[in-house]
Amino acid sequence: MTSPEPKPAPDHAGTDPGRSDDAHTRGDASRGNAWWRSAVVYQVYPRSFADSDGDGIGDLRGVIAKLDHLRSLGVDVVWLSPIFTSPQADNGYDISDYQGIDPTFGSLEDVDELVAGLHSRGMRLVMDLVVNHTSDEHQWFVESAASKDSPKRDWYWWRPPREGFVGGERGAEPTNWHSFFSGSTWQWHPETGEYYLHLFARKQPDLNWENPEVRQAVYAMMRWWVARGVDGFRMDVINLISKVVCDDGALPDGVVGTDLPAGVSRYADGSPFYTNGPRLHEFLHEMHTEVLAHGAASGDVLITVGEMPGVTLEEARKVTDPARRELDMVFTFEHVGIDHGPGGKWALRPLHLPDLKANLARWQEGLMAVGWNSLYWNNHDQPRVVSRWGDDSAEHRVASAKSLGTVLHLLRGTPYVYQGEELGMTNVGWSQIGSYQDIETLNYYSESVSGGASDGEVMAGIGPVSRDNARTPMQWSDTPHAGFTTGTPWLAVNPNYPAVNAEAAVADPDSVFHHYRRLIELRHAHEVVVEGDFALLLPDHEQVFAYTRSLGDETLLMVANLSSAPAVVDLPGQAATVAGTLLIATHADGAPADGERVSLAPWESRAYLA
Ligand code: NOJ
Repeated sequence: MTSPEPKPAPDHAGTDPGRSDDAHTRGDASRGNAWWRSAVVYQVYPRSFADSDGDGIGDLRGVIAKLDHLRSLGVDVVWLSPIFTSPQADNGYDISDYQGIDPTFGSLEDVDELVAGLHSRGMRLVMDLVVNHTSDEHQWFVESAASKDSPKRDWYWWRPPREGFVGGERGAEPTNWHSFFSGSTWQWHPETGEYYLHLFARKQPDLNWENPEVRQAVYAMMRWWVARGVDGFRMDVINLISKVVCDDGALPDGVVGTDLPAGVSRYADGSPFYTNGPRLHEFLHEMHTEVLAHGAASGDVLITVGEMPGVTLEEARKVTDPARRELDMVFTFEHVGIDHGPGGKWALRPLHLPDLKANLARWQEGLMAVGWNSLYWNNHDQPRVVSRWGDDSAEHRVASAKSLGTVLHLLRGTPYVYQGEELGMTNVGWSQIGSYQDIETLNYYSESVSGGASDGEVMAGIGPVSRDNARTPMQWSDTPHAGFTTGTPWLAVNPNYPAVNAEAAVADPDSVFHHYRRLIELRHAHEVVVEGDFALLLPDHEQVFAYTRSLGDETLLMVANLSSAPAVVDLPGQAATVAGTLLIATHADGAPADGERVSLAPWESRAYLA
């Protein structure tokens, strides 16, 4: 079968979607009411944040007990990874009831208390919206799977075996796509003699957004959460919701790679057929009209961020153009893929700094006139940045964590801090597969080893990049299990917790924590940090990241040595800026600038304002 031409997306920019004037104004994220442009978001991964009841798993009451930590850091928004009812096949990204709270995490009353606790401290709550897929235990899927005639059959992607094949045998899958979590994206369902699509795990069937009933059910659920007081949504893999469908209703095959190393799956990359699909903008605009435009219960605009693997700058510009009324910002994956090798994420290469600078600069410039950036190094899916691109040795951990923070936080966009990043938490990098819990890691290991790769080879890939590096429990203190739980933690604590923990960091004025607190203060205090135009300096320098932000007659200069060796740089035209106010620095004893010449110790960074 040949790939069909994607259907053109309707261009709705500038059209009046027929909402009331009130809704129209509230949803209009123009500079005046777009409070999130100067905000900093903190991500809580509840399973690993704080355990209040000793069962070894973090929970909502644990989060509530730590709100003052977040307030003292100064963040404006908390994004809470999923706490909904779930079999936990993917730690809650497999939801079986969008309006129920998993008993592991607490109750709806706990959510209400969390919302009140945040609001009373001047912070807001963003919920995770996971609607590309549900759990296979969601009632919608249970009904859909009951029979081919179920009224909900078409809520998911059901397809017959490939012609000429018997269902369940290798090659019978309706397409040859490789799942994000290894193996095929199709699960055979012998009871009804068809396959269902799951881009992620077998227990995460994809919802069929082509069906308007599905979309309305999602919007109704979102409205219910907004009425309950939430202030926005982080939308899980939201650019995968629109799939390319051929005229005969089939989905197209991908092209199988050649010369694949041992252990790499023979399934094909299907992403061209489900990434930034033909109806994506239409669906997002409809969601905006139906839900987002009406604002939060408080009357403010909501904050929305779409997680978008494979999003291009061009697509991001469309999604975040306020005139098009889709989303406020997207999470791009380009910069966190910059060190992926030919084997993808499991084959990390050392960072080549000019590549990272070029990529971030491209997005800064590309979203300067229209749209808005999100800024992140870390989340629950990424290795810890201080281990990945910093130096997590005892000598350089603190300075490198601070400098990476400085580079990110003085860019234009909304910064996201992932729990523990403000402490300079590091990768754990276990070398035994038995230590890991993450479904993506475990599936990748089985697929590779059964494909002929050795344990050593596979573990060498997993150690630096597995998602469990981000998911080891938050390190609160030097007490057993880092003060995360009084029980046995669901995932082992990083053994460096006696030195790296929140209690120690808060008590030490030179800690990563206080550096992040100061960075957040700078965003709140200086409009140039929020709105200033960006310009990259020294694009080819292999050690130093430097840029300016300018607004009116103010110029902010950020210069950071992202290496473990000293660096001396000349910054043409910046003599006046370096003679200005030093806003923040990693080293109290930094060498004074000499005209345009700045000398930096390993991992030293500074920002000046003139
Ligand atoms: C992206 C989430 O961030 C990740 O943790 C999850 O496994 C997949 N989407 C599937 O929901």
